[in-house]
Amino acid sequence: MADTTKTLENMKANILSAHKSTTLAEKVDFYNSWAENYDQDVALLEYRAPSLAANCVSSHFSGDRGAAVVLDVACGTGLVAKQMKKLGFGHFVGIDGSEAMLDSARESGLYQDLKQCMLGEGALHVQCGSFDVVVIVGALSIGHVPVGVVRELCKCTKPGGYVCMTTRINQDNAEYKEALERELKQMEADGLWTCVEVSEVEDWVRAVSEHEDGYIHGVVYLYKRLQL
Ligand SMILES: C[S@@+](CC[C@H](N)C(=O)[O-])C[C@H]1O[C@@H](n2cnc3c(N)ncnc32)[C@H](O)[C@@H]1O
Repeated sequence: MADTTKTLENMKANILSAHKSTTLAEKVDFYNSWAENYDQDVALLEYRAPSLAANCVSSHFSGDRGAAVVLDVACGTGLVAKQMKKLGFGHFVGIDGSEAMLDSARESGLYQDLKQCMLGEGALHVQCGSFDVVVIVGALSIGHVPVGVVRELCKCTKPGGYVCMTTRINQDNAEYKEALERELKQMEADGLWTCVEVSEVEDWVRAVSEHEDGYIHGVVYLYKRLQL
């Protein structure tokens, strides 16, 4: 127990630097240097977002999971695909800005295709309307992926397909979350998609900031792209 606490303490400064609003290049450098220890560190933090998002998609998806093609945006080392695979999904395409995170995802053997792509810097290099499910977990937050990218995610999704997104509920992410929810609702008003589920979860991940105790809360959003 003492060892776990010490390790968590050692990790805090590192993790907190990921939440800062830095340039995209600095963000990618940060993830390049974290890639090797990412899975073990987030396990220690009891990071539940990948399994919560996978379960949310699974509880609404009624198509053929084996045939469905999933776009895992900001895929990192592949934790979301790992959870979705357990639930029967079989085809994954991953995109991320960090080459080192992509290398780990490649090693997982879960993805048919992996591409390096900076989100928020132009179009996504994937085909419009071609994915049954698009997921973005742990990346829609302050200093990571700009809110405007959610329109691109919707465009990548097949009519009738699902877009699953997550964000953190804590002080430093409050403004971002508000802007995100404004955009999600505006897109619904624009007739692009319909909201299927919004679930707030209390024990999302262990808090690392000195202003927070226990667990940070988080939220999973699931939207269904409307027929054109
Ligand atoms: C917290 S990790 C989440 C990874 C994975 N989805 C998970 O839940 O374990 C955030 C990922 O987003 C990527 N990322 C952050 N901002 C990005 C951006 N603007 N463009 C591309 N990738 C970005 C990072 O490289 C990193 O792999």
